[in-house]
Amino acid sequence: MTQTLGIDFGTSNSAAGISMNGRPFLIDVEAGENTLPTAVFFDFDSGKTLFGRQAERALINGDDGRYMRALKSILGTPLMHESRMMMGERITFVDIIARFLKRLKKRAEDLCYQDFDHALSGRPVLFHSSDPEKNAQALKDLTQCYLAAGFKSVDFMPEPEAAALAAGQKGDGLKLIVDIGGGTSDFTVFQNTLQGIDILASHGLRLGGTNFDRSISFDHVMHLFGKDSEIRKDFGAGTHAAPRAIFHDLATWQMIPFLYAPEVKRKVADLQRNAVDRPAYDRLMNVLDDHLGHDIAFAVERGKIQANMDGQGMINLATVERDLNQPLSAEMLTTSLTPHMGSLTSAVQETLTLAGCTPDQIDSVIFVGGSSLIKDISSTVKTTLPQATLHYNDAFTAIIDGLALATANPR
Ligand SMILES: Nc1ncnc2c1ncn2[C@@H]1O[C@H](COP(=O)(O)OP(=O)(O)OP(=O)(O)O)[C@@H](O)[C@H]1O
Ligand SMILES: [Mg+2]
Repeated sequence: MTQTLGIDFGTSNSAAGISMNGRPFLIDVEAGENTLPTAVFFDFDSGKTLFGRQAERALINGDDGRYMRALKSILGTPLMHESRMMMGERITFVDIIARFLKRLKKRAEDLCYQDFDHALSGRPVLFHSSDPEKNAQALKDLTQCYLAAGFKSVDFMPEPEAAALAAGQKGDGLKLIVDIGGGTSDFTVFQNTLQGIDILASHGLRLGGTNFDRSISFDHVMHLFGKDSEIRKDFGAGTHAAPRAIFHDLATWQMIPFLYAPEVKRKVADLQRNAVDRPAYDRLMNVLDDHLGHDIAFAVERGKIQANMDGQGMINLATVERDLNQPLSAEMLTTSLTPHMGSLTSAVQETLTLAGCTPDQIDSVIFVGGSSLIKDISSTVKTTLPQATLHYNDAFTAIIDGLALATANPR
């Protein structure tokens, strides 16, 4: 019998693990690291496909190629199955995600000296908040990716239920997992029993760190590239507001590669010609010409983390233009996060309703996922569940710990 490999395929970071003597054993997916960025780089010079930190290094070096991140957010959308030319071959996003998963599989097989034909994968409770068809399609897409990666079968476990398995919190009361990752927020109410854990309800929301990055970028960075500026009319006097779609896409991790298409550049060149704020549009054109969209996204993400942890961040855009930067205070961060906090609170309340319990019955909240470190999020959850004590489990490995444990009992 071949053992099952647990895989947490995350929007921002992924990991793999197995169960060993009743404990999770995480694979060193890269030397000395048990998580790796869910990133792919098609290196045009070498013709190689790079993954994880290697892909990030290639992007930072400015190597000639195509970088992709937040691929999980594309699952369930028609983009998944559209093929495009990449380094001389026609491929789809199914192929790209499959190659990433294949890399995890091979790495685990090399390190464990055994084959893994079966995968136990995490999945968000909902890939798309309120669209059952898109959710079903996303799961179908992800299954197809696992099979294309060489697994003979794949089972799925909701990510917050995996975190509940790994939580190890003692006591009889009801507990709530709050998993806020890069692309989704997921919730599970559970309690400990003599046999293990009893899941009362799980719920989810398509909201995560990449959405926060997008809001911050749109609110505080995109004006540097011409958002909200005026464009002179082609004929006659007067101006009109610049269209916003391009700025939405430039602020959205998974849409950035699509901006480098010739038709987008032609549209931007038209705007550039008539722009009142010409320097901003010159900058935008430079970003598209030199493929610097992900440099902006990374700068925003770093600024967000710094503003959250230190109270003051800096969005450093020196790779776009020397001395270009945008300070980001904790207040500015809050301004961009506030519109999302209402949906988060509603999702927590909906989870409790599904579990048939009231807020005062939850005695512990266990936060996992990188975005659960955001202070505005813990304070929002605390306001909703004032009686609960807050615990932080390993933000980046709690899900894979649970999946690894669960591989011991394949269905
Ligand atoms: N200290 C921090 N403060 C705020 N955000 C953070 C911090 N550290 C990481 N993040 C954010 O956490 C997110 C990544 O978290 P994580 O690795 O848990 O996501 P994921 O598992 O890949 O995504 P998902 O589970 O939604 O598919 C990123 O958006 C990152 O910017
Ligand atoms: Mg996650």
